[in-house]
Amino acid sequence: MLLNDSPNEHMSPVETFNNFNLKMPPRLMAVKALELFEGETGLMIDLGAGAGSDCAYFLAHNWKVIAVDINTQGIETMLKTIGNKYIDRINVIKDRFENVIFPTVDLVIANCSLPFCDKKYFSSVWENIKNSIRPGGRFAGTFFGLNDDFKEKAILLNSDQINTMFEGFEYEHYSEDEQESEVVGPQGKKVFRHWHVYKVIAKKQMHNN
Ligand SMILES: C[S@@+](CC[C@H](N)C(=O)[O-])C[C@H]1O[C@@H](n2cnc3c(N)ncnc32)[C@H](O)[C@@H]1O
Repeated sequence: MLLNDSPNEHMSPVETFNNFNLKMPPRLMAVKALELFEGETGLMIDLGAGAGSDCAYFLAHNWKVIAVDINTQGIETMLKTIGNKYIDRINVIKDRFENVIFPTVDLVIANCSLPFCDKKYFSSVWENIKNSIRPGGRFAGTFFGLNDDFKEKAILLNSDQINTMFEGFEYEHYSEDEQESEVVGPQGKKVFRHWHVYKVIAKKQMHNN
């Protein structure tokens, strides 16, 4: 993830990229999304929740959370992060988000996870996400742009495609950023990679005309 994606700028690029660290701070899009709810609480689903830093943040603010992730290591870290304190308000689903039918929620968070969706199912996952957000509810998350180094490994989108996906929504945050940063590459070596990231928070319109 981009260095400036976290409100805690002290994290190194390596720490920021390895999403299975205990005590990672919540992502900027999660922090901003919570602010936009102005003290309301509700149900949030975190797709590709990883180590659960966004889940922990919403639980601490009295939200209910559904965490979906396919990775056992991530889920184990998430359960350590959350501890027993909020266990009655989180439902952890270990599965691909392509396989899950989402309930109606107030907020969908997908930070750095939807680009790893199986390409064949991306449009149906996106329809599923849009349908699950209640009118007035929000999406908050990140997508990779066409210049990102993930080229072969992830779904890359351009701004027109993102705008089409968000028809029926109003942007509350939209940014596009490109930068190089150091990450852990193959064999644990540090390598530089190019990031091209769109960050979006969007509110579903109350009525679709
Ligand atoms: C780069 S990490 C991001 C984790 C967390 N959202 C964050 O911002 O720190 C991507 C996460 O998405 C999960 N993931 C990727 N593809 C997935 C899929 N198809 N279904 C469920 N989880 C998936 C991975 O296991 C990983 O935990």
